[in-house]
Amino acid sequence: MKEFCKRLPKIELHAHLSGSIRRDTLHHIWQQKKSESPELTLEDPLLVIPEEGVKDINAFFPLFSKYIYALINTVSTVEFSTRAVLNDFCADGVVYLELRTTPRDFPETGLTKQKYVETVLNTISEFNASNGEMKARLILSIDRRDDVEKAWETVELAKRYKKEGVSGVDLCGDPLKGDPSIFAPHFDAAKSAGLGLTIHFAELPQSSSDSELFTLLSYNPDRLGHVIHCSEEVKKKLVEKKVALELCISCNVQIKMNPAVTTHKEHHFGEWWREGNCTVALSTDDVGVFYSELSNEYWIVHEHFGLGKRQLWELAKGVVDATFAEKEEKERLKGVMDKFGAAEGLWQIDM
Ligand code: IMP
Ligand code: ZN
Repeated sequence: MKEFCKRLPKIELHAHLSGSIRRDTLHHIWQQKKSESPELTLEDPLLVIPEEGVKDINAFFPLFSKYIYALINTVSTVEFSTRAVLNDFCADGVVYLELRTTPRDFPETGLTKQKYVETVLNTISEFNASNGEMKARLILSIDRRDDVEKAWETVELAKRYKKEGVSGVDLCGDPLKGDPSIFAPHFDAAKSAGLGLTIHFAELPQSSSDSELFTLLSYNPDRLGHVIHCSEEVKKKLVEKKVALELCISCNVQIKMNPAVTTHKEHHFGEWWREGNCTVALSTDDVGVFYSELSNEYWIVHEHFGLGKRQLWELAKGVVDATFAEKEEKERLKGVMDKFGAAEGLWQIDM
């Protein structure tokens, strides 16, 4: 079944660029930097990131701010790591990827937000032009800690580079920080410009009051990430609004975003899948940090929720309409899914 999950054409909608860089890619960059500047004090990524993935929620956000951003801070390291991430997803059988990243200035190297976004987009364009199997788009993230000015810079970049492959805007970052109610005009402007909107939602109990969640829903997101700590009223609203859910099983279980859930079997994927009221997009979140590829997330729902080959394929196919892709790309994806289903004889399998 693992092999089937790898071959299954999959769509990844929730993957943070910096969190998707594998530790061997980071190690390669670290070695390069160390040889150029022996005085570099950063530790080897192979020592910083455990082989089995990060398990401590307190170590998670600082890993980016204190470590990865100090390593990936030049045009060449952004290019190298982005290319590696694209190749890794493609090798896992992903046929469409919406990668997301937070535009950042790197004062220590002079890399600006604009140049950062252009570098990621150029790398994606080169990949798309040379690869027939997987196409990628970019989502720009507003961090919860951003002030209104910073958030406007992100929305402006997203609008400016829409034609070059930016398909949407995201709200991410440490759920314990910031006040997301300040971003109403930003998301409104992004939606008016035809960009998709996805929001990290109900990740921790502290960021899941009905008041915060209804505020986020008032921005009319197309998709929501995580969706862990929701009241019945909120769940009802999600169904009413037909929001697609980006569920990150390994991430949630591994760093215990819901302290009551300690096994994959107990993850809220089961509830949403059985009810079938919202599209579910299995997602990796940060494959470089949690070490579970998208094919493994599909295998997990086979192993722990009993989905067979046809159900896995239908789950994967259902994600097409939740993408922020243009019509032609959605048609291509439906074709890829149908071709796979026919070649595998999945139509004939009883559910
Ligand atoms: P980047 O935006 O490409 O730099 O990817 C890393 C960033 O994504 C982190 O600094 C966080 O702000 C955000 N991120 C990654 N995983 C999560 C998550 O599970 N919840 C909220 N934000 C996240
Ligand atoms: Zn995320």
